Formats: sequence, C-alpha cells, structure tokens
Amino acid sequence: MITKNIDQAALEQSIREQNLAVYVRTFGCQQNEADSERLLGIALAMGYTKTDEPEKADLILVNTCAIREHAEKKALSIVGQYKHIKEKNPRLVIGVCGCMPAQPHRAEEIKHHLPYVSFTLAPGKPEELRPLILKALSGPKRQFVFDEEKPAICEGLPVERNEKHKAWVSVMYGCNNFCSYCIVPYVRGRERSRASEAVIAEVKGLIADGVKEITLLGQNVNSYKSDIDFATLLERLACLDGDFLLRFMTSHPKDVPDALIEVMAKYPQKIAPHFHLPLQSGSDAILKEMNRHYDKEKYLLTVKKLRQAMPHISLSTDIIVGFPGETEEDFLETMNVLESVRFDLVYSFIYSPRKGTVAAKKENKVSANDKKDRMQRLLALQATISKEIHLTYENKTVRVLVDGEAKNGKGMLSGRTAQNKLVHFEGTPNLIGNYVNVHITRADAFALIGTQTKG
Ligand code: 5AD
Ligand code: SF4
Repeated sequence: MITKNIDQAALEQSIREQNLAVYVRTFGCQQNEADSERLLGIALAMGYTKTDEPEKADLILVNTCAIREHAEKKALSIVGQYKHIKEKNPRLVIGVCGCMPAQPHRAEEIKHHLPYVSFTLAPGKPEELRPLILKALSGPKRQFVFDEEKPAICEGLPVERNEKHKAWVSVMYGCNNFCSYCIVPYVRGRERSRASEAVIAEVKGLIADGVKEITLLGQNVNSYKSDIDFATLLERLACLDGDFLLRFMTSHPKDVPDALIEVMAKYPQKIAPHFHLPLQSGSDAILKEMNRHYDKEKYLLTVKKLRQAMPHISLSTDIIVGFPGETEEDFLETMNVLESVRFDLVYSFIYSPRKGTVAAKKENKVSANDKKDRMQRLLALQATISKEIHLTYENKTVRVLVDGEAKNGKGMLSGRTAQNKLVHFEGTPNLIGNYVNVHITRADAFALIGTQTKG
C-alpha cells in the first residue's frame, strides 16, 4: 500500500514537472456540464494545467451524452478526430466519460474500434477518475469502468467551476422513472439525494464567494428526498443571507406539490420566477405509453396553480415529436397544449430510439417524413408564440445578469433575466458577471435585444 502511494505521488509529481495539460470537452445537459467541472477539478488537483486546445493536451477527457443518437454520433466523431493528436503525442491519455460508455454496447465499440482511448468512465463513478489516469500513465493496459455496483454519492471531490457568477449544485443523481424512451435511468442509475447539510454548506460557500446565481441540479430535482423534501430544501436555501438567485432543473410534472409552489411564491427575491416542466406530449395515450405518470389535465392544473401563485412566472418545456404510435391526432393534442399554455420556450426533439429502452422495442414507428413535418409545424407555432410574448417586453427595462459575449455579434453581450429570458445588448466584457438594466428595443422568437440604461 505504501509503495503504491509513493508510486502515485511520484506520478503526480511528474505531471507537475512536465507541465502536462488537460482538455475537457463536454456534450449534453447541465448535469454533464457540472460533472465536467468535477472531472477538470480532479485533473487539476493531480497537477495538470488546463488548456482550451486539444492539440496542446496530454490528457483529453470527453464527457459524452447518450440521450439521442445524434449526441452519441457527435461525441464519437470528436473522439475520432483526436486520433491524429495521439499519433503526434504518444503520451496523450484519452478518456471517454459520461453516459455514452455507460452502455455496454458503446463501451465495446470504443474498446474495439478506438484503440487509442485509454479508458472509459461511467457518470456515477467520478472517484475512479484519478486511479484511471494514474493507471493509464503507468502502462498500456486499458480500463473500462461501469456503474456495476450501486453508484454512491461522492462528497468532497475537487470542482473547477467554469464561471464565477453562476454555479451548478447537484442535489440528487440518477432517475427512477424509466420513461419508456429514456436512457438516463440505465446510464445514471437509481435516484440518490445528497444530505441537505452538504447541499446547504456548498451553497453557503458559493454565496460567500459572491456567486450570484445558483442552479440546483438533478435529473428529477423535485424528487429530491433526504431528511427533507425538495420544497423544504429550497426554502432553507432561500432563507440564507446574501444577494443570490436560486434556479432548479429538471422537474418532473408528477412531483410539483402545492408546498413547492408556495415556497417559490414566498421568496420572489431569492427563487427565480421560472419553471422548466417537461410535458413531452399533450396526448394522454402517448403520455401513458411514455410511462410519464400524469395526464394532460394534471399537467394543465399544475400550470394553472403556478400562474395563480406567480402571475409573472415564465414556463419552458420539452416536447418529443414522433414517439412510436403518435398519430396526427396525438400530435394535434400537443399543439393544442402549446397554444393554450403559451410556453415562453419549448425545447423540441425528434424521437430517437435508445437501445435497451422499452420504447425502442415498439413497432408502430412514425415515418421520418411525418416526424420532420410535425417538428416543423411545432417549431413554427412556438416561434410565433415566443415572439408574441417577447414583443410584450418592447419599451420595458429588464434586469439582466451578464453571462458573456454574444455568439452572434461583435461588441454584443448576452445575459439572462430572472425569468431566464435571453437578452442581447451592446457592452464591454468588464460587465460580465454583473447585473445591468437593459431597455428592450426589439424582440424576436429567441431573444430580447436592447440597450443598457442606468434606471
Ligand atoms: N428521443 C428524443 N428525445 C429524448 N429526450 C429524452 N430521451 C429522448 C429520446 N430517446 C428528451 C426529453 C427530455 C430531454 C432532456 O430530452 O424531452 O426531457
Ligand atoms: Fe429520462 Fe424520464 Fe428520468 Fe427524465 S424523468 S431522466 S426523461 S427517465
């Protein structure tokens, strides 16, 4: 044991002496972004320095997503491109992490077709990263780590946060719901919630560091259950002193008790007036096939309660188009809910069969043409609704937390309102991380555009 520790210490010493660099590439959801901050934190604690250029890296970690086939293809293609870097730098260690290699068939594929990948690591096992890197540095033997045993909750692992003004805090991991289309329960395991003291201590630390927005994360964040439930956790956090705003995602519509709505309404300065509530489909028949445990009526009742308690709340949702067996009538039910709820934002996805899920075995597939056609109609409807909602902001002033430089224009900055509205305005990078007031002069379906004002 002692010899092993000395070897590890020597390896980490040599990482520092050789000034080795790590590059982390992330695909997928906010949970993956949060996981990547931990992967990076672990690598930095081992002595690596961070690089934003894969060509300069000695350790590349690709944190992958498996939610749809497209996400997997993108990740595999990127890993394919790193082969050339490995050829130039034989000491390069490449690890494929996250949800994709947590599926045995993908791990096999990586094992056989991507021989320059040193290891894979499933998302529930971040504590394995350090030993995997050390083993990769000490010999050519490749490692493939699954979540075979029940993945635990790891407290106290290092985290290197990407942003100073915003932070993710995972409060629970995994999912028990087994929605019939979804791969998440298979790759991230069963639900497990962090102890409330651990979450509260982390949030207190972030507030003390001046973090302005804290997003509580979980695949089913509102199913959080430790010594307290999610509504109580949110209230305890909202009662902490300091100038900060709490967000949370992703919520399941089956778990929105009145107590949660009451807590949100009670602390408007501390809890963002925004709720992301994935509907998936407006058809009761499809919701049943999806194993969602709510129907259209129950969903609409929750929306009504949220709006009664918080008239200015913004609502966003996820929709899947073309689930097996979805008829034109089912699809029109979805369109109907979109028209009646008038969501601020809709993330829509074409159904992608995931190997091993119940829905992947269903026969009555929707044709590619119908899927595309329905998607286009849905996008057009929602673009109209989003634009109409955005136009009501014209000539109004909104408070914006500035996130960074806008992707679409020089000299433009982007930020978000408390309601999570995307705002673009002209400004200098020194404003990043600060709150500013923006007078909205223009709006489209995707963003509000304006100029910074004092008042
Ligand atoms: N195909 C298409 N979309 C999916 N999602 C989850 N699984 C699939 C799938 N197999 C969508 C759901 C979920 C979001 C994160 O991704 O809408 O809420
Ligand atoms: Fe997937 Fe459903 Fe769990 Fe969300 S609740 S992660 S959609 S199985």
